[in-house]
Amino acid sequence: MECVDSGQIIVVGGKGGVGKTSVSAMIVKLLSQKNQRLLVIDADPVISLTHALGETPVETIGNYREKVIHSDEEKRTLLKRPMKTIIREMMMHNDGRFDLLTMGRAEAKGCFCGTNELLRHGIESLCGEYDTTLIDCEAGIEQVNRRVVHHIDSLLLLTDTSRTGMLTLTQLKDIAVQCNEGRPISVNVLVNRLRHQAEEDGVNQMATDFGLTVIGAIPEDPSVREFNHAGRPLLMLPDDSPAVAALQTILAKVGLL
Ligand SMILES: Nc1ncnc2c1ncn2[C@@H]1O[C@H](COP(=O)(O)OP(=O)(O)O)[C@@H](O)[C@H]1O
Ligand SMILES: [Mg+2]
Repeated sequence: MECVDSGQIIVVGGKGGVGKTSVSAMIVKLLSQKNQRLLVIDADPVISLTHALGETPVETIGNYREKVIHSDEEKRTLLKRPMKTIIREMMMHNDGRFDLLTMGRAEAKGCFCGTNELLRHGIESLCGEYDTTLIDCEAGIEQVNRRVVHHIDSLLLLTDTSRTGMLTLTQLKDIAVQCNEGRPISVNVLVNRLRHQAEEDGVNQMATDFGLTVIGAIPEDPSVREFNHAGRPLLMLPDDSPAVAALQTILAKVGLL
């Protein structure tokens, strides 16, 4: 087994629609401005971060898995070459600023544990070659655990100001801790789309009631909505747009930048 311990693996989780993909894209923008090796994994089965970054996937892990399952020729090729090399060929290399891997669709019915296991091990050993791996997911932490990586170092839980958003996070935290099998994990809450400063105190209190730690709030930012609406890559958001500026301060405060 290769050592996969170097570099930190960050997962962005939260209820659907709270802004995980948008915030992930902004994190990519900020991290890619640093001089470090960054791997970005779009783990949403319907592909979202890839588009938010202005990219179109050439190949996805999901498509490749289907090919392997249905073709003996692909199975033979798989055994002849290191999985890491095969996966590297599916990645997009963004001007040396970051590499991007798109997971694509989840497996159809049936058990493909063996193939998933091989693929996950390949992805994990690749993560070890980067300073930071950022994973945007939609389908839940168990899916990440099964298809992408075994362990995560930092879980960034995103919520809007709603109580249900926060409640979802307690469940995600429990699942992540369980999946991590005793390995340390840092869990932090980021509040997104804050409209009034007055909302912040209420949200912080709610988090405390649920035993969660809020590291900061990102304001409602019309430019994020406009960029998404126009299909413009969020990487091109100006540094001084309110959401990017707030995120930069928060990430720097917790040592993620
Ligand atoms: N800080 C923000 N300000 C304004 N709009 C936002 C902000 N964050 C996200 N959005 C909007 O919320 C919607 C859902 O965001 P998305 O990132 O797709 O969520 P998720 O990945 O959690 O499903 C998008 O239309 C996006 O433009
Ligand atoms: Mg999303």
